[in-house]
Amino acid sequence: MRVLTGLQPSGKLHVGNYFGAMEPAVSLQQAGDAYYFIANYHAMTTVKDPADLRAWTRELALDFLACGLDPQRSVFFRQSDVPEVNELAWILSTVCPLSLLEKCHSYKDKVAKGFSASHGLFAYPVLMAADILLYDANQVPVGKDQKQHLEVTRDLAGKINEAFGEGTLVVPEPIIRESVAVVPGLDGQKMSKSYHNTLPIFDEEKPSKKLIMRIQTDSTPVEEPKPVEGSLLLPLYRLFADDAAYQEMVAQHEAGGVGYGDFKKRLAEAYWDFFATMRQRRSELAADPGYIDEVLAQGAAKARATATVTLDRVRKAVGLA
Ligand code: ADP
Ligand code: TRP
Repeated sequence: MRVLTGLQPSGKLHVGNYFGAMEPAVSLQQAGDAYYFIANYHAMTTVKDPADLRAWTRELALDFLACGLDPQRSVFFRQSDVPEVNELAWILSTVCPLSLLEKCHSYKDKVAKGFSASHGLFAYPVLMAADILLYDANQVPVGKDQKQHLEVTRDLAGKINEAFGEGTLVVPEPIIRESVAVVPGLDGQKMSKSYHNTLPIFDEEKPSKKLIMRIQTDSTPVEEPKPVEGSLLLPLYRLFADDAAYQEMVAQHEAGGVGYGDFKKRLAEAYWDFFATMRQRRSELAADPGYIDEVLAQGAAKARATATVTLDRVRKAVGLA
């Protein structure tokens, strides 16, 4: 059983990324072979400043390690350290109907948000399929918004197998945790960098807590009961608090007598405490840049060894070798 996932180095890690992608990935390390990578080729579709791309790549490496990725157990690498992925992407693109890509929401959403409609952005799902298929991954933990890309991946693997022989590529399964499928942002929409509504994980304490204190709530007076349905504080609190504490906050919403300010303070504390150990670990790791380089170099070598085996198999199947 092989697990694989990637994250783009396109900004600061936020609570949505953590619960939607990072935490599931880290906890799946135990389940078998794990491959985790920094999708820097993908990030090029939206990150246009080389200094940003370089810096965010390092930041994301720190995030992964701070959140519990164990480089002894998992293969951890930069996407661009295995350039073979581009060859597989090309091969996949020759069996990929344009209509399959035209259906992808993520492309349409990004263009609607003002990103340039480049070929790279359009072909993004094909490269993502190559990422997954190159390593014979069976399970891919992702947030719900990546579900469609996993369908494209399965489709392309199926087409290759049909055209060039069953067993040429492994057809992967997405792993999407329904309980945290969409983490709400500070404004109630999906938490996302593009909506500027994120709660970052590794920023300074004061400004981070302030973001929580500024969440908009309704004008129910302190003593009155407050709506549980549609509450923004409760689903966030549920992520950080244990069940008893969460139930207590629900009960206090229903009973009235506690104001939103109190709830927010409790949420801010729970959020801060939840990531405390990871924050500590991250600052220790940041003090030793050579360590990150070493981990990524070792990961790249291992990833490349696996990639070469798959690519050889595919090259033979399609007639390139
Ligand atoms: P963003 O929307 O902030 O740009 P990305 O698209 O880079 O985030 O997402 C990285 C990973 O985190 C993906 O697997 C994605 O599904 C997951 N993710 C992002 N936002 C959320 C969210 N609000 N809830 C759950 N998962 C999320
Ligand atoms: N598209 C993913 C995202 O935006 C990142 C990604 C690239 C990925 N390649 C992948 C995720 C392969 C899982 C598997 O989050």
